[in-house]
Amino acid sequence: MSRLIGLRGRLLATYLLVVTFGLSVFVIRYGWIAQDGIVEELEHEEELRAFILSNALEEPVQAYTSGELSLDDLKPHIDRLAASAEGRLTLLDSQGVPLYDTQADAAAIPNQWQQVEVQAALTEREEHDIRPDPITGDERLYVAAPIAHEGNVLGVVQLSIPTTEMWAEIRQTWLSLLATSLVVVIATVLVSLWLAKGILEPVRALRQAAVSMAAGDLDQRISTDGSDELGRLGQAFNRMAERLQHMIIQQRDFVANASHELRTPLTTIKLRIEALHGGARHDPTITDRFLLEIEDEINRLNHLIDNLLALSDAEAGLDTWKMERLDLQLLLSESVAAFSPRAQSVGITLTMDISPQLPDVRASAPQLRQVLDNLLDNALKYSSPGGVITLLGRPGKEGVVVSVTDTGQGIPANDLSRVFDRFYRVDKARSRQEGPAGTGLGLSIVRSIIEAHDGTVSIDSLEGKGTSVRFTLPAYPDAQSDH
Ligand SMILES: Nc1ncnc2c1ncn2[C@@H]1O[C@H](COP(=O)(O)OP(=O)(O)OP(=O)(O)O)[C@@H](O)[C@H]1O
Ligand SMILES: [Mg+2]
Repeated sequence: MSRLIGLRGRLLATYLLVVTFGLSVFVIRYGWIAQDGIVEELEHEEELRAFILSNALEEPVQAYTSGELSLDDLKPHIDRLAASAEGRLTLLDSQGVPLYDTQADAAAIPNQWQQVEVQAALTEREEHDIRPDPITGDERLYVAAPIAHEGNVLGVVQLSIPTTEMWAEIRQTWLSLLATSLVVVIATVLVSLWLAKGILEPVRALRQAAVSMAAGDLDQRISTDGSDELGRLGQAFNRMAERLQHMIIQQRDFVANASHELRTPLTTIKLRIEALHGGARHDPTITDRFLLEIEDEINRLNHLIDNLLALSDAEAGLDTWKMERLDLQLLLSESVAAFSPRAQSVGITLTMDISPQLPDVRASAPQLRQVLDNLLDNALKYSSPGGVITLLGRPGKEGVVVSVTDTGQGIPANDLSRVFDRFYRVDKARSRQEGPAGTGLGLSIVRSIIEAHDGTVSIDSLEGKGTSVRFTLPAYPDAQSDH
């Protein structure tokens, strides 16, 4: 249901509901107050008139009571007063019997003694009554005031007016309240449509951009003005788009680089085989050389594929690894032991300096071995006979710090920031000449693995002096206190 109505409809409905409810409460409450006010004001006005009339009639009625005046003598007097009061005047005697009425035959009017306004007048209160005229049946508003002389009630002045005008005024008040409400409701609709537009416009833009991106257009960006939630959503979207684009470019570069790296040895192999076919195989010396070269290239291909797999494994991250509590000291010693023969054969001293306080780490053993292999391999590969390689292990601020330092050829300052990039080699020609050619993937594998372990890697180097690669790993939870 809500999906059918849409966001705009829901916003509109919500605003309308709230405003209509609030307005209804207000209109009904205020309408009643206004209505009461109108009636009361009218009553008050009429009471005042009745009071003035009763005062004016005090002397004539006194004269009538004492027999000095007849009722007929009184009538013109009463008519004159009633005309100035714009109402209908009924004179009642002290028993409530109508004596004279300015608009009807007094004899036709029943006794008024029990009427609300008459009773009120006799007890000096002000009260009105709205009821049908006993003769015409039209609704009228009645008030009354006593005519008293020296404490004796001589009679009552009953004044009444038709209620038609009063009702008209009340109706007018209600109508104008309703009209105002209608204006407010219309304004609410307009404002909520405007508000909805302010919300829906960015949402629509976002959706549009997402759809275009899904269709492959990665250049999509959203203009994000405003620092509200929608603005921030737009910014997050843009960041996501940028990152996605960056990742895709990286991926593309990676495939191009990998293909290139794979093609180079294949080309060499193909050329050698062609040469052998072309007659070179009849010369045993050349055949031997070519076969060795082919074997070299195949080794290179193997190394490259191993590294590509290692990299993909490192990027897959923790999900596929078996993380366990590792005694780093043992792991480091094993690596040094594994590399010692090779170091010895090229006349390089391999030493290690590992603190006995080294806390255990939480890591994947094969991955950590891969890291140490790559670093020790680099240290050996880029050092000359007589060099020294030191493997250092120390407790660090949040865990352990491990470094592999060599006294080899070092890395030019210009290249230092890029050696962690995939396929980056300082001097491609040089690394091809000496031993198994590098792929430029070793350090990027190291970085991926260490970062997946929540560690950090850094490198320091001085050209011609040596290189030091350092990485940190967080200690196994609570491992630090074990020691
Ligand atoms: N210890 C080091 N001394 C001098 N240069 C180094 C050292 N370690 C790395 N480098 C430079 O950084 C580049 C990148 O190293 P990385 O380990 O990523 O690749 P690689 O050693 O060339 O290839 P692979 O590790 O696949 O055999 C190397 O080609 C080399 O130029
Ligand atoms: Mg390497």
